[in-house]
Amino acid sequence: MKNLDISEIIVNGAAYEGKRVNVAGWVRTARDSKTMAFLAINDGTALRHLQLVIDKSKFSDEVLAPVMKNGVSVSADGVVVKALKEGEYEINVGQISLLGDCPSDYPLQKKYHSMEFLRTIPQLRVRTNTFNAMLRVRSKLSFAIHRFFQERGFCYIHTPIITGSDCEGAGEIFRVTSNCYADARTAKDEAEYLANDFFKRKAGLTVSGQLEGEVAAMAMGKIYTFGPTFRAENSNTPRHAAEFWQVEPEVAFAKLDDIIAIATDMIKYIIKAVLDECGEELAFFEKAFEAGLRDKLRHVVESDFVVLDYGEAIRILEKSGEKFQYPVSWGLDLQSEHERYITEKVFNKPVFVTNYPKKIKSFYMKQNDDGLTVAATDLLVPGVGEIIGCSEREADFDKLKEAMVERGMNLADYEGYMDLRKYGSVPHSGFGLGLERMLMYVTGIGNIRDVQLYSRTAGDLM
Ligand code: 4AD
Ligand code: MG
Repeated sequence: MKNLDISEIIVNGAAYEGKRVNVAGWVRTARDSKTMAFLAINDGTALRHLQLVIDKSKFSDEVLAPVMKNGVSVSADGVVVKALKEGEYEINVGQISLLGDCPSDYPLQKKYHSMEFLRTIPQLRVRTNTFNAMLRVRSKLSFAIHRFFQERGFCYIHTPIITGSDCEGAGEIFRVTSNCYADARTAKDEAEYLANDFFKRKAGLTVSGQLEGEVAAMAMGKIYTFGPTFRAENSNTPRHAAEFWQVEPEVAFAKLDDIIAIATDMIKYIIKAVLDECGEELAFFEKAFEAGLRDKLRHVVESDFVVLDYGEAIRILEKSGEKFQYPVSWGLDLQSEHERYITEKVFNKPVFVTNYPKKIKSFYMKQNDDGLTVAATDLLVPGVGEIIGCSEREADFDKLKEAMVERGMNLADYEGYMDLRKYGSVPHSGFGLGLERMLMYVTGIGNIRDVQLYSRTAGDLM
């Protein structure tokens, strides 16, 4: 008999009442009394486990003993019956067999394990409720992101992973090379080293699909990229990963206001999708990670986001009377403590901070007429800080070139990018949303290492 997904019985149990079904899964808990045994099994299709009820008088010890263990995988068939709890269903087992044994050194023996401990066993932590729920929300969130853009006529573009440019200009690039250690030692200089390398020039893993996304938008109008990006950022914080996913729309003919409106609609749309589709998971996160989580998310869907000029943000911080570690003055790159003050203490909802000083932002951002600021905005949210980096792009060839020269960039690496300003340049804007940061926000999970299947941070490659 073919296996029935456990989620079918969880969601749709009444339709199966009285029917004989086959299920399979991993035993999460096993307990028994004199006459009865109970196994909670999970096959990953639902957060909730399915209870298998076993009348011990009908089974020999040889059959029962091996399946009554935490972590083993089993296959069972039996009849679907109402459980004690209203609306829930369980299986009266007719037959059960062991698929794979699980010896007593299985690390997930207790009900609760610390997140730190779980990070040491990425191959097994997926079998906890937390990771089961997180991965399902991650999947639904990703699909909702695609749906949002597809419904609005955006073209999904796959930008290259290997690039020869540094979009954010922060020098946090992982190098890509086919050379080995010996090649580096024998080459007399970098030029010789590169001459023997695969691409014959410096190559790296992309930090952002934006530059190539702009190329696509200058032909396809409305595009988005959605894929992995990489940063050799050696900052050991709960919100920085070396490998993370970004969704990056890029829109031709859009100004900063237009892209802020798109970002707002997208955030509300994907939060609503998670509220609608991941009710059980959010209830779990609310209990385990963040009290009031669902009310927070509902509030975000219903409320207007704040749009706050950077200068005004600085004034608010200066007047706050708070003792910040990094002193506040115009020109400061807002630190986590400042972002948190603004979103958590002042507004308690998402805030777009706009028009940052150009000195602290990237070369590609449109320069405002004041000569000091750029048409850029970060979306800050309570608890996480920045989740979106966004800007109108500099569409003027000379101004873009000047910004690049000021930063000492190698123009030859960006010729193709500058061509966009030469051939039919148009105003255009885009943003990047960090998927993991968004997941932290919607689940309440406090560390980026715990919203990825495998965490990727400095010194940590499991
Ligand atoms: O603000 P960032 O650096 O912006 C860009 O990369 C632009 N090129 C995006 C664009 O306009 N197309 O990064 C965008 C977002 C951040 O707001 C944050 O959510 C996430 O990417 N992010 C990270 N997430 C996890 N770990 C890191 N090290 C991250 N760095 C950025
Ligand atoms: Mg940023």
